[in-house]
Amino acid sequence: MVKTKEEIEKMRVACRICKHILIELGEMITEGITTYDIEKKAEELFNKNGVISAFKNYNGYPALLCTSVNEEVVHGIPSKKKVLKEGDIVSIDIGTIYEGYYSDCADTFPVGQIKDIHKKMIYVARESFKKGISMALPGKTTGDIGAVIENFVKQNKFSVVREFAGHGIGKELHEYPEIPNFGYSGTGVLLKENMVIAIEPMITEHSSSVKILEDGWTVITKDGGFSTHYENCVLIREDTPEILTV
Ligand code: MF3
Ligand code: CO
Repeated sequence: MVKTKEEIEKMRVACRICKHILIELGEMITEGITTYDIEKKAEELFNKNGVISAFKNYNGYPALLCTSVNEEVVHGIPSKKKVLKEGDIVSIDIGTIYEGYYSDCADTFPVGQIKDIHKKMIYVARESFKKGISMALPGKTTGDIGAVIENFVKQNKFSVVREFAGHGIGKELHEYPEIPNFGYSGTGVLLKENMVIAIEPMITEHSSSVKILEDGWTVITKDGGFSTHYENCVLIREDTPEILTV
């Protein structure tokens, strides 16, 4: 779980590239494009930056990116049929591999004017991440992170998804420990200096119940409520946590 200085240096590079590509993909979001257009742009940017997708073929996942629209929570598969329209929200989740090291980040973007409640959900996902990272310190536990995320989301009258969680990351996409977005402070795995973890709150508008579509991947809310996602890789340090996906 604990990374060496050399590993951390490589992860810094991997994570910066990943975030830059996410930002560039976010900038292309506009009414009328399809989620497949985002996938094609990602392909171009991956090649340009010398990285490969961490998701493609992961347990058979069929695309480079995950693009999850509205009631889709995570693992939406880019599609030529999915045309973005004003009022939609789209989460882009991107993972890349650079010199054998993984990076993973996600954010949720509005398409044109969106409802205030959905703006608030985007804010709450990002802000709950900030609560979570405040607990990413040696001596704290994975439960400390989950508890502050869950409390903040609930205070704002939204729900957290329980079936999916953050994770350690390094030479693999999903490493130990798991970082749930709920829990009790003082429980779970003890955090140590030089661990790298992906903290990724997934928020739903109403109920947190989810199901998987027939494509075997796309996770949607059962009640059709919208969902937001925000994710960064974080290095645990003695003094203050460092967001690597910057
Ligand atoms: N960011 C997600 C995660 O950490 C993406 C996984 S998509 C998959 O779990 F296709 F690779 F499964
Ligand atoms: Co992740």
